[in-house]
Amino acid sequence: MTLRARAAPTPAAAETAALPTHVAIIMDGNGRWAAARHLPRIAGHREGARAVRRTIEAAIHHRIPWLTLYAFSSENWRRPAGEVFDLTGLLRSYIKSELAELAAAGVRLRIIGERDRFPADIQADLAQAEASTADNGKLNLTVALSYGARAELTAAARRIAADVQAGRLAADAVDEATVASRLFTAGTPDPDLLIRTSGEQRLSNFLLWQVAYAELVFQDVLWPDYAEPQFAAALAVFAQRERRFGARPA
Ligand code: FPP
Repeated sequence: MTLRARAAPTPAAAETAALPTHVAIIMDGNGRWAAARHLPRIAGHREGARAVRRTIEAAIHHRIPWLTLYAFSSENWRRPAGEVFDLTGLLRSYIKSELAELAAAGVRLRIIGERDRFPADIQADLAQAEASTADNGKLNLTVALSYGARAELTAAARRIAADVQAGRLAADAVDEATVASRLFTAGTPDPDLLIRTSGEQRLSNFLLWQVAYAELVFQDVLWPDYAEPQFAAALAVFAQRERRFGARPA
């Protein structure tokens, strides 16, 4: 399969609408999608992987430069061993089957999370995927794997404490930029728009620092059914929002 090249919106349309620079998505509802069809949960995850492809295509189509997807949380390791096995297997086959096309479409892949918890072969594939797409810039795709925001912030605090203890950093020089530079997402823009599918309205330990000023959009669609129309609808909701970043309107 080839990532479908679709006509981009006209420059006039793209310029008039307020587009987010960075969209982050909590992909939820694979299990319910499968249960509704009396299928095993892995069938929902497989269909969810197809929705990932459609969403990447939609982001490119709408000229969104940054997309972050929550694919596997730190807490997901607590799921039954069979489901964890199926999810890691799906990840393994996804990298192998999609990498060449992602690269050809100009996608740069980054991984955030505790990747060392995955089997060594997956870690190697992820490193190779990041390296081989490092020069791409059409879409910056970040996939959160074994990711948890509290663990990320705790690790950042530990690194800052170590730097202070070693005399590399003065305690009173620690500011927001110091913290941001120690997160997995260092150097990347914060999300402007956070989408969660399936009707649930929780952040589930996702990018807690980075979404401080993001617009939250909860969509009543199960992730395996997600496609360009739903992505466009979320962008339309975003365009209607008035963003004040804590300041009063002029
Ligand atoms: C949430 O649905 C989804 C996940 C825990 C896994 C997300 C994985 C994918 C979208 C597919 C694979 C992605 C890649 C990048 C290969 P859930 O299982 O919690 O659904 P439920 O709440 O309905 O039970």
